[in-house]
Amino acid sequence: MTTVKACLFDLDGVIVDTAVYHFQAWRRLANELCFDFTEHQNEQLKGISRMESLELILNWGGVSLTEEEKIAWATKKNQWYLDLVMQMTPNEVLPGVPDFLKSLRENGIKIALGSASKNSKLILEKIQMLDYFDAIIDGNNITKGKPDPQVFLMGAEATGVQPTECVVFEDAVAGVQAAKAGGMKAVGVGSADILTEADIVISTFEGFSVEKLLQM
Ligand code: G6P
Ligand code: MG
Repeated sequence: MTTVKACLFDLDGVIVDTAVYHFQAWRRLANELCFDFTEHQNEQLKGISRMESLELILNWGGVSLTEEEKIAWATKKNQWYLDLVMQMTPNEVLPGVPDFLKSLRENGIKIALGSASKNSKLILEKIQMLDYFDAIIDGNNITKGKPDPQVFLMGAEATGVQPTECVVFEDAVAGVQAAKAGGMKAVGVGSADILTEADIVISTFEGFSVEKLLQM
């Protein structure tokens, strides 16, 4: 049995599926700049910061903008995204997540958020999950994005737990790499074909338990 004293969760794609809203808002931006991109390309944006995502998208469209224009478009995209986020409800929490977090608590395991998003607190509020977290580290706290381990190392520190006693839950390749770079175990949430560097991969939290976590 391994010792697990803290679990660190990515937000988008792990706690809740906001990727669809990011996609809608980024696509609107692309369309206003007279190009389009696919859902497949959208996969590359998972776990990546807002400005890095914008750079990738502009590249796909062959559009070059000044720094000021980039900031203006990123701000517009975020506003469109927030219009969608404001309509979110607790029904959008992914299956099995609340029960798993409750059982972590009951077993004295700390819970932290490690997300690249600058909107994480608002999202957690909308889905009524804010109270589950002992620490929240997000895009407002970090200087280096995933696959750099900074976000998770800060999460470990905030919960007072050594990285080797932390398990990270991630849906993005860059996020799994960040966990491993931080010396942590990683549970991939999604497809084993994509999250090949994770220690184990689950497709949903339904059926996952603290017992299984400790057997990793
Ligand atoms: C998460 C998502 C990314 C998003 C990033 C920044 O990592 O997976 O798709 O770009 O957060 O989100 P924000 O809400 O700050 O624009
Ligand atoms: Mg994610």
